[in-house]
Amino acid sequence: MIDSYPLLRPWLFSLDPEEAHRITFTNLDRAQRCGLLRCFIKQPASDPRELCGMTFPNPIGLAAGLDKDGQHIDALASLGFGFLEIGTVTPKPQAGNPKPRMFRLPEAQGIINRMGFNNDGVDECVKRVRQSQFWQDGGIVGLNIGKNATTPIEEAASDYVTAMEAVYETASYITINISSPNTQNLRALQGEEMLRSLLASVDIARKSLSDRYGVRKPLFLKIAPDLDAKDIGFIADLLLEFSIDAIIATNTTIAREAVQDLPFGNEAGGLSGAPVRAASTHIIELLKARLNDHIPIIGVGGIMSGQDAQEKIAAGASLVQLYSGLIYRGPTLISECAAQLKSA
Ligand code: FNR
Repeated sequence: MIDSYPLLRPWLFSLDPEEAHRITFTNLDRAQRCGLLRCFIKQPASDPRELCGMTFPNPIGLAAGLDKDGQHIDALASLGFGFLEIGTVTPKPQAGNPKPRMFRLPEAQGIINRMGFNNDGVDECVKRVRQSQFWQDGGIVGLNIGKNATTPIEEAASDYVTAMEAVYETASYITINISSPNTQNLRALQGEEMLRSLLASVDIARKSLSDRYGVRKPLFLKIAPDLDAKDIGFIADLLLEFSIDAIIATNTTIAREAVQDLPFGNEAGGLSGAPVRAASTHIIELLKARLNDHIPIIGVGGIMSGQDAQEKIAAGASLVQLYSGLIYRGPTLISECAAQLKSA
């Protein structure tokens, strides 16, 4: 099968990143509707993994942020992902930060973004998820939720509970995102007292939702790479205390050492791609040492090759997710990672 992405990439990289994203997905959606994608994209071999009561057809997932509103689910599923994480969505629609807000750093294979949870609101997203063939066929769709920018941080829990109620019936799992650097003070929710209080509210809401719907949906927590061993210690304890089902490590970093001399290297926002790989893997190692096998870890951050995916699994992850690697490598990365993890 021919990999055309290396030929297309120079042209896509000559465009504004958000425009390149729009053009790519307009064409992927078209190709998917004509049934072309599954013919031209190498599909990963089946490699089922059991986690939190779900069977993932392969361990490679889409990380949150690429399809914030669930607009491209069937096209993304046709690329061969074992699961898709949609969002971050917030209770009310919001525009996000002013443009430009996404920057490529090709010398470092990195991306800096300060999108700021631009999204159409949780209800619109849920509608789209339910319309997708992938979801209707039982595909695993995680819904990643956050707070609106205008909600004071002291009232964050009420936004998470509102969003949880809206996604509960539809989501295969729900991710509580407290680690984006682009919503003011959001990462303060990773502090011990604030996290305890947030998880307590979320736990009460989950109990009442699981009674209402007669099903207990898995809850995941997504954390930043900019945490130390002490932070990981209390986060791990809280995960166990509030029966969180899995942890996603990690989001983007605010560190800039690796890129500060590069064009756009000092833009505000979160850095992803190759420069965050080692920090993310280190967080997975800390989590694994602390959690042992009690709570599974989903590894994300800087996976640019099958080898990098293997590094996350060796550090203690059970599944992995991709974002920036797709921008640099194209969809071939999915089958490369799947083949590497199947053979390992
Ligand atoms: C992200 N990421 C992200 N994460 C999240 O939980 N909610 C979100 O809305 C977003 N939005 C977003 C936008 C853009 C442009 C990027 C590049 C990233 C973070 C993403 O899911 C992932 O955790 C990190 O990017 C690290 O993985 P990669 O990109 O190095 O594979």
